Amino acid sequence: MNLLDAIENRHAYNGFHTDEPVTEEEMNILLKAFNKAPSQFNSQPWKVLISRDKENRYKLAEYCGIAMKTAMEKGEFWEKYGKYFYHDKNGSSIKPGMGMKVDHIPNFLKQIINFIISSDAMSFIREKSIPTILGIENRKLVEKSPVCLAIFLRKADYNKSDNSSFYSTLSLGMAIENMWLAATEMNIGMQFMSMPMEVPEIWKKISDMYNCPTEFEMVALMRLGHMPEKPDRPVLDWTSPDRLPLQEWTLDEKFGSN
Ligand SMILES: Cc1cc2nc3c(=O)[nH]c(=O)nc-3n(C[C@H](O)[C@H](O)[C@H](O)COP(=O)(O)O)c2cc1C
Repeated sequence: MNLLDAIENRHAYNGFHTDEPVTEEEMNILLKAFNKAPSQFNSQPWKVLISRDKENRYKLAEYCGIAMKTAMEKGEFWEKYGKYFYHDKNGSSIKPGMGMKVDHIPNFLKQIINFIISSDAMSFIREKSIPTILGIENRKLVEKSPVCLAIFLRKADYNKSDNSSFYSTLSLGMAIENMWLAATEMNIGMQFMSMPMEVPEIWKKISDMYNCPTEFEMVALMRLGHMPEKPDRPVLDWTSPDRLPLQEWTLDEKFGSN
């Protein structure tokens, strides 16, 4: 696969991984790709924790499941992020513009997707046990992944009082994308697991589980493993290969020119 194919084919993999282990050699290729990324002053302000141990992964899976259920149940997630979701009554994208397309959504959810942040929608969501269903699914997904990664930034470089926090975040994004492209070439599916970050007490428990020292902050969790040939899509799939057409987001010399 050449680089442009890898860019085209990379996607957020939110299905189950196969039982095929990720070998030491594969892991080293991924980690090398990660650390080849540019970083401010070449500071490489990160630590990447690789977790393969079943007991630890199951514990993480439990936390992820609880986080998913808690965040969905409380409704804060929808209040905070509902504005980034754009869709019509059928659950598909309506307008080009910023926003997240819900690419695959169960029929019963389509009814409420347009008023998801209202209290009526929240009672509907709870009534249908959606938080519990999503929590269980999430736990199972993580349990089945052969490798989970926890990524930390060094606080000295991730200093929120100056631009270094922006620089570190930017560098980390590049590092993750490097690894993601290498993974794509190796048929390894990767997924961000952001939901635990939405529940601070769970985020802290995970960070403590990994013995994160005070000089570092845990900033991302990912899971990875080999992908089946024809993966099933999860209950609610908001990843999408669709992108806005070029003219929607590029500018010719100045804002307002096109
Ligand atoms: C910072 C960040 C956090 C993300 N968090 C999640 C997540 O928690 N769960 C998930 O399934 N995808 C997550 N994604 C993946 C996006 O949903 C995905 O990249 C987007 O929908 C486009 O789909 P694609 O990557 O398959 O092209 C995250 C992506 C980024 C960059």
